[in-house]
Amino acid sequence: MSELGATLVDLQHRFRAALDAAPDDRALDAVRVGYLGRNGEVTQLRRAIGTLPAAERPAAGKLINEAVEAMEAVLSEASTRFEARDVERELARTVDVTFPAIAPLTGSINPVRRIVEDACAYFRRHGFAVVIGPEIEPDYYNFDALNIPADHPAREGFDSFWLTGTLLLRPHTSPMQIRTMQQYRPPIAIVAPGKCYRRDAVDARHLFQFHQIEGLLIGEGIHFGHLKGMLAGMCRELFGTSQSVRFRPSFFPFTEPSAEVDTTCPKCKGGGSHCGMCGGSGWIELGGAGMVHPNVLREMNYDPEIYSGWAFGFGAERLGLSRYDVDDVRRFINSALDFLEQLQ
Ligand code: PHE
Repeated sequence: MSELGATLVDLQHRFRAALDAAPDDRALDAVRVGYLGRNGEVTQLRRAIGTLPAAERPAAGKLINEAVEAMEAVLSEASTRFEARDVERELARTVDVTFPAIAPLTGSINPVRRIVEDACAYFRRHGFAVVIGPEIEPDYYNFDALNIPADHPAREGFDSFWLTGTLLLRPHTSPMQIRTMQQYRPPIAIVAPGKCYRRDAVDARHLFQFHQIEGLLIGEGIHFGHLKGMLAGMCRELFGTSQSVRFRPSFFPFTEPSAEVDTTCPKCKGGGSHCGMCGGSGWIELGGAGMVHPNVLREMNYDPEIYSGWAFGFGAERLGLSRYDVDDVRRFINSALDFLEQLQ
């Protein structure tokens, strides 16, 4: 090997060792300057080419160029290593990888909405259509057409929010019976979920804004047994088989006969003389039901001699109490997400 070749090999060894020993970027640069800089060792060798016999110069230049190329490659490798180390250091300083991760907020469906959806799914499976109506109603739809004339005491029972002399925030979803009967002819099979409003004092079982699910079936030969069967089936589907359902005789101007429908109190399981949730009765009221009153059918020009039907109106929040074993309807709306997320 030529003398120059040997010098270059030795120089590259030293260069590599110096790079390996460099503790940081700055030291790395100092090494670069020492070898490849304007006064560096390699530059001096290059200058020395001029002292060689002319015939040897090209070969010597080529040798040096090859050495420089190799050195630059090693240098760039070393500086990449440093960069990676810097990034790691910076991450270690700002990110504690042992810190417990924060789970992303994904949101979930409110239990009341889920109840409404599940109940509607049950009826849809049985051939019912789901219809949606307005929350502001004229008194005709809310009262008159439902066999509650202007002077009827049942109007007071609804404790409504009146917007004008004739318009009100609907206190129940029963106006949807009227809207549907006006628009279609029998047979009719619908459920109508939606918001309702009453001037009720808020407590564990009452909200002034709540949800009802209305149901209406009209056809020939429809009787109370169909109503009981469908509602018991819905309760089985929503609550499972451990909860019982009972029908209590009651009164609504738009149904005859009428019933109130109760389900086993989820808190005392029907046992409880001192139960704070059901007031000791052992039952929670879900809502009202009954056979559509002939006056309502007549108002819609349906012949009560031919057609009969049933209707029901259940509180979705009440269904929620039973389904989720929750003791207070206010829990459904107070945005305590940790609590709500468990109720799926
Ligand atoms: N609309 C009645 C209420 O809100 C419930 C009901 C609906 C009763 C349909 C009978 C038939 O109290």
